[in-house]
Formats: sequence, C-alpha cells, structure tokens
Amino acid sequence: MQNLYQFQTAERIIAGRNSFKSVAEHLHVTGADIKNVLLVTQPSMKRLGFVDELRSQLMNKGIHVDVNISIQPEPTLENIENVFFDISKNSYDVVIGLGGGSILDSTKILSVLMTNDCSIENILGTDLIKHPGIPTVLIPTTSGTGAEVTPNAIVTLPDKELKIGVVSRYLYPKLIIMDPVLTLSLPREITAATGMDAFTHSLESFISNKANPISDMFALESIRLISSSILEVYQEGDDVDAREKMLIGSMYGGMALSSAGTAAVHALAYPLGGKYKITHGVANSMLLPHVMEFNMDAIVHRLSQVAEPMGIISKGMTQEQAAAEVVELIKSWTHQLNIPQNLKDYGVEDNNLDELARSASQVTRLLNNNPKTVGLEDMKKIYKKLLA
Ligand SMILES: NC(=O)c1ccc[n+]([C@@H]2O[C@H](COP(=O)([O-])OP(=O)(O)OC[C@H]3O[C@@H](n4cnc5c(N)ncnc54)[C@H](O)[C@@H]3O)[C@@H](O)[C@H]2O)c1
Ligand SMILES: [Fe+2]
Repeated sequence: MQNLYQFQTAERIIAGRNSFKSVAEHLHVTGADIKNVLLVTQPSMKRLGFVDELRSQLMNKGIHVDVNISIQPEPTLENIENVFFDISKNSYDVVIGLGGGSILDSTKILSVLMTNDCSIENILGTDLIKHPGIPTVLIPTTSGTGAEVTPNAIVTLPDKELKIGVVSRYLYPKLIIMDPVLTLSLPREITAATGMDAFTHSLESFISNKANPISDMFALESIRLISSSILEVYQEGDDVDAREKMLIGSMYGGMALSSAGTAAVHALAYPLGGKYKITHGVANSMLLPHVMEFNMDAIVHRLSQVAEPMGIISKGMTQEQAAAEVVELIKSWTHQLNIPQNLKDYGVEDNNLDELARSASQVTRLLNNNPKTVGLEDMKKIYKKLLA
C-alpha cells in the first residue's frame, strides 16, 4: 500500500431513477447565467427521445442548446478534432456529455480544447493541460467506464495503432447525473462488455501498487454491486434495480481507479483496441482472468479478500483456494456473458504477438501499477492464451 494517497471526484453527484429529468434544475452548479449549452451525445439517445427531453428542459429555462452526434465509439484523435473544428466558432457556457465512455471522454477533451490554445496531441499524457476547461456535466448511459468520475480521457491513435490517455485534474466534471433508466436500452452484448470493464476497474484498482484505504472501499463495494447484478442485467435488461446497482458499481469503479489506477489488463487491452478494433470492454474481459493468473503469486492475499464480495463462500478455504475461486468465477461469467475468447476471430495471429507486446509495453503509466513486472515474453504468453 502507498504511504501517501489522494482522492478527488466530480463536484456534485445527482443519482437515482429519473434523475435525468432534473438536469436543468441542477445546472446552476456549473456557474451562473448559462445561456448556451453544447450537448455531445450519440444517435441512440436521439432515437430514444432523451435529447428532446433535455432540450425542452433547457429551453424552459431560456437556455439554447446545440446538439452534436458526430463522436464515434472509441473515438480517434482526428474524430474529436473534427468535432472541435465544427463547434469552435460558437461559444458555450457548459458542455453536457450524454452517452457511453466514448462520449464522456470526448466531452472532457472538447471542454479543455475550448479554453486552451492547444491540439489534442499537445495534451496526450499526464498533467499537460494548462487551464481548466468549460464546465462539464457528464451523464453516463453505459455502466462501464466510470469516466464520469475519472481524470482520464482515452483517444485512439490509428497511425500508432494504440489508445492513449489524457490525464488531468481539469477533466473532472462539475456535475454528474446517474440515472439507471438511461441504461435500460443497452444491448445485451454492450451490457456484458461494459459491465466487465467496470469490474476490471475495481479489481485492478484493488490489486494495484497504488491501492489505498480510499480506493479499496470503492473497489470492494463496486465488486459487491457488480457481482450481484451483472448476470441479471444481461438476462433481464429491463430490471431497473439491477441496472442501478451496475451504474453505481461502475461509478465506484471509476472512483477506485482515479485513486489507484488500473494495471496490466488495461495496458494489454489498449493495442487490441488500437490495432484490431476490439472494443474496450471485450478486450479487458478476455485478458482479465489470464492477467490475474499471471499475477497470482503476488496477489493471493488481495484476491482472497474479494471472494466474499463476489459472493463466494470461502469459509474453510485457504487463501490460495479462495483466490483461485475468484479467477474461476470470472471465467464462468465471461462464458455466461458470451464474451469472445479467441483473438483469432479478430485477425490476430501468432506472428503478431511481438508487435502487440511491444505496443503494450509502452503503456508504462498503467504497467507501473501492476504488482508484478510484466516483460515482453510474459505479455506474449498472456496473448497466446487467447489464440486457441
Ligand atoms: N475515461 C476513463 O476513465 C475511461 C475508463 C475506461 C474506458 N474508457 C474509454 O471509454 C470508451 C468506451 O466506452 P463504453 O465502454 O462506455 O462504450 P461506448 O461509449 O463506446 O459505447 C458503446 C456503444 O454503445 C452505445 N450505447 C451507449 N449507451 C447506450 C444506451 N444506453 N442504449 C443504447 N446504446 C448505447 C454507443 O452508442 C456505442 O455504439 C473507450 O474509448 C475506452 O477506452 C475511458
Ligand atoms: Fe476500462
């Protein structure tokens, strides 16, 4: 555990069923005299009527809204810069992001591009943003990334075939709205993949070299909430209680990772997203049990502590047995959630493993959090397990 640790989060959290209906009411948190708002969102929110609902809330308060739906899932640097180019002629008091992690991350980046004379390239990395952005309101519609409470925004760099993070305290939002009703429409496979991403955040934070009492509290409660609801939301997508547990569990996962960081699972997942377009949640879930097995001798004690919140009755077991049960349960979830298990289905072959490992080894920001050093050969062995 770290000697010194820190925690920071969104300025105001409004949560609960139908909390989306009160966005306009809480907007004053972002500042006074709001006249112009940019809403960054995805087509599904328009289709489902949530954009119109928000527009009428804001119009009733005399606020003008421009809507942008041009951000793509897992956006490239170029995609975000093009959207910035389109909106930069206007001036906004607040930017609202309504969508999955891709929308929330882009909203954070757009907000700082509006106030900093820089390109995205200039701010890739940690603490490179000079000035705070336009105030943001983040409203997640997946129960996955926890991006609404993290200082990170991830962009895809197709030429480098990698994903990379912008990390800055200026990316924390002023206000977040956590409404499980917005997640009811999530298709099954996105429910599964994003839910496993959230679980990965919590488990990786719990075993991270930077784990601390604050991140542990959020990680363990997140693990408890997600473990008790992930199969349920996959089978019964319209169960609002289970959806709410997933949404709060994913937010706690984001809080845990803001303080403790993720580790080798995320580092190895980035090139799978950057080069082979495997979605973030799927890449993480494929890797999670194998990276935990690799780490096992360094984390038996920590893994055994997550058995109980995962619902494993570990009384009478040794720590080694409880830790092994944790990995077995994760494997069983990935099967029950029909998460793909074979990298060959995405075009990866044996002769690509060197390159994948080299790319992953560049993600030192996360690899440094891993309880064991992961060398190039270790990485190749882990990827190889997914080439059946
Ligand atoms: N900032 C962070 O701390 C952080 C953490 C983890 C991951 N990420 C990044 O977040 C991105 C992934 O975000 P994500 O997993 O939330 O997926 P996403 O935002 O890419 O969304 C996946 C798909 O689901 C659709 N969708 C989202 N909500 C929906 C809903 N309620 N109903 C119907 N369709 C819906 C989207 O339109 C999209 O097609 C990646 O780029 C990843 O690297 C960021
Ligand atoms: Fe993630």
